[in-house]
Order: sequence, then C-alpha cells, then structure tokens
Amino acid sequence: MQSVRIKGRAKLQGKVAISGSKNSGLPLLAASLLTDEPVVLTNVPQLNDIRFMLQLLEFLGCETTFEQNQTRVRALKIHGNPSYELVKQMRASICLLGPLIARLGHAEIPLPGGCVIGQRPIDLHLRGLQKLGCDIRIQNGVVCASATHLRGTNIFLGGRQGSTVTGTANILCAATRAKGITTIQSAACEPEIIDLCHLLLAMGAKIEGIGSPTLIIEGVDSLHGASHRLIPDRIEYGTFFMLALMTRSAIQLPPLDPCLSGALLYILEQSGARWEENADGILVRGDRSSLNPVELTTLPFPGFSTDLQAQMCALMTQVEGVSVITERIYPSRFMHISELGRMGADILLEGSSAIIKGATTLSGAPIMASDLRAGASLYMAGLAAEGETIVQRVYHVDRGYEKLDEKLCQLGAEIERFDDKNI
Ligand code: EPZ
Repeated sequence: MQSVRIKGRAKLQGKVAISGSKNSGLPLLAASLLTDEPVVLTNVPQLNDIRFMLQLLEFLGCETTFEQNQTRVRALKIHGNPSYELVKQMRASICLLGPLIARLGHAEIPLPGGCVIGQRPIDLHLRGLQKLGCDIRIQNGVVCASATHLRGTNIFLGGRQGSTVTGTANILCAATRAKGITTIQSAACEPEIIDLCHLLLAMGAKIEGIGSPTLIIEGVDSLHGASHRLIPDRIEYGTFFMLALMTRSAIQLPPLDPCLSGALLYILEQSGARWEENADGILVRGDRSSLNPVELTTLPFPGFSTDLQAQMCALMTQVEGVSVITERIYPSRFMHISELGRMGADILLEGSSAIIKGATTLSGAPIMASDLRAGASLYMAGLAAEGETIVQRVYHVDRGYEKLDEKLCQLGAEIERFDDKNI
C-alpha cells in the first residue's frame, strides 16, 4: 500500500485548481442508465471512485469512455445485476438502483455494507421506491426490486438525520419515468442533487422545485442523451480553504458560486478568517487571519457539511481556545481524532462532539487514513506540524481528491509518495 511523507511547517503559496465534484459525478453517471442514448459528462475528476462507477456500468453492459476529464456512457443493452464483489467496494453503487428500476423494471443490488464513518442504512431509498410501486425483497444480502410500472405519488423522504442525498437521487431518477406526478418532500438540497436535476432536465425530464426540499417530477415516456458539465467539488474547495488558514498561507482559489458554499464561508468568517475577492476568485489570507474557536454542528445542506468536519477539527487544533464540533449526520465519524491525538492534538470525544483545546503544536508522526475526508485532515495536520509525518493508506484520499499530492507540491509543499512496506 502507498503512504506519503509530508514535511511540516509548510508555507504554501500560489493558485490551485478545484476539480469537478465526485459526489455529482457518481449519481450523474448512474443516471446515464435512464436512456439508451449517449450521456457525456465534462469536468469529471480522475478519481478511483469515478473509475469504479464506470467499471460497474461496463459490468451492466454499458459502453463507456473516460478521457481528459470527460466521460461518455451509452446504456444500449444492459442488465440489472451488479456483483457483490463490485458493489461492496463503493457505497455509492446504490445510486444504480433507481435508474435500473426505471429503465428495466427490476434490479438486484447487493446491500452496501456500512463503513468506518458509520452505519449507512438505505431504508429511505427502499421506502421511496416502494411508494412508487416497487416490490422490494431482501434475499441473501441482495436488494431484489421489481416493478411492472412505476406510478407517481407523494413521498416523504426524511429520516432521523434529515434528508438523504443518494436516496433523493435514486427516487428522483425513478420518478422521471413513473406514470404521473411524484412529489418528494424532505428531498436533499445539496448542490449535487441540483446538478443531477440539471442533467435530467437536459435528458428531457420534467422537474420543478429544484434546490428546494420539495421536488415535483412529472414522469415522461422516455429520456434522451445529453451533455453536462459537473459543478466544482465544494468539499475540495473547503479543504484547501481551511488548509490555507491552518498553514497561515495565502492560497488563490477560483471563484466560489455562493450556492455551493452553504454554511462554510459564514462559519469561517465568523471565526476570523480573512480573504480577498479578486479577478481570479478568492485569495485566502491565512497569513492575515487570526481565528477564534468555533461551535458548530454538521447538518444537511446548506448546513455545515459532515464532509468538512474532519478538516475543521484539524484546523481548530491550531486555534487558541475551546472549539466544539458536533457530528449530527454520522455520529461516529471521528476516526481522525485519535490520529490527530498522536500528533499532540488535545481533543476530547464526548458522545458525538469533539471538544478541541487549541492551540497545540502538532508534531509529525506516522498516522493512518481511515476514510477520504479524515485522510485529507491528516494531510493538513502533517503540513502544519513540526517535523515529518507519514500518512498511511492514502488510497482513501485518492478516492476523493484528484491529484492532491501534485496540487500541494505546486503550492510549495514537500510531499513524497512511496510504497510502504510497513503496512
Ligand atoms: C452522501 O452520502 C455523500 N456521498 C457523502 O459523502 C456525504 O457524507 C453524505 O451524503 C451526507 O452529506 C455521495 O454523495 C456519493 P445520506 P449518502 O444518505 O447519500 C441516514 C464523502 O466523503 N440515512 O445523505 O450515502 C444516514 O445514515 C461521502 O464524499 C438513513 O437513515 O448519505 C446519514 O446519517 C462520505 N437512511 C444521513 O441519513 C437512508 O436510507 C445522511 O445520509 C439513507 C441515509
């Protein structure tokens, strides 16, 4: 397995490009199954998860190409039975369910397992599909779904933690081919769902309420091919923004569509972050920011994203005072805390809250990534720490950050990737 060696006390400077959104690309690639015509996506990040979704689509019978950040998928003749060996490798495989049922009338998808960030049920996905007229059976760990035809209906898609992003994607895709009108209440409002709606509109779907918690979909008899450019990755954007603050660097980011920011910029501004808007976008002035501790809770969009929680924990280790970060979406998503502790961070876990006493001087150490966002927070800590840090299992980071090492080195970081014989 590969690890990276990171030299600490990095002083970063320069301009960084933000890639297309992974969490848009995955459901939008799955939506290609809704038509037998080609669907072309541009600004697609070259990530392992994207390549894996293309592998799944090929397994189902699709023709796929992926060149120069552009994918082309044509689902001419497909079947609906991805193998467990494939599905177990990526939770987002569940995004295939809605499109397959809409296209074929049936699908057998192995139940995705949980993962280190927590138990990740799909009860809301299944409830929504049943409301659309699907017969759902779980047999030997496989979701067996079938529907002679899908009929429009009213669906409340909220769960204990609020809305579900991929659940909304699944029901949305299925509803585009249902007979009649479907209303989805408590739909996810994440920008990635808006991006999916825009692709579906381009394919001939009829959707109203885009960006709101209530989506109204009028089913159509067929959908056609389309071309669409993915939105930028707002989580990568937030990661680099907080990295500039944590290393007290000046990093030039591209413009950020305010619709993508949610609570991020508000919380950082409240904490004392300083930045300048210019012709190239946003120049984050980590060198001129004097941050205060934060108290925040992760929430569905536009609330503070759970996918930026680990990065905020790392940042707050460098801020004088006590910060409290509460994880409401995945209460046990704190694998990064023990790794930051190995570097000298003073963080107490109380239930689903991390109580961070800053500022502490982090010292480089061998640490291990557990999921892609925790891995990113460990890169940040290694760049801010004194001495050298080895981050192991960087394959987690490669799933969600395109060319991260390269982008950081272009900013002046000293990062070396190597095959780690110790793991
Ligand atoms: C999406 O996952 C993202 N992945 C995740 O990003 C992100 O953390 C998550 O949304 C929350 O924003 C993709 O978009 C591919 P959910 P998803 O269904 O859709 C509960 C990353 O780092 N729930 O919105 O799987 C669930 O347990 C990844 O890029 C149910 O109870 O998440 C959680 O507490 C990690 N029943 C909450 O809802 C269900 O049927 C939100 O989950 C579905 C979800």
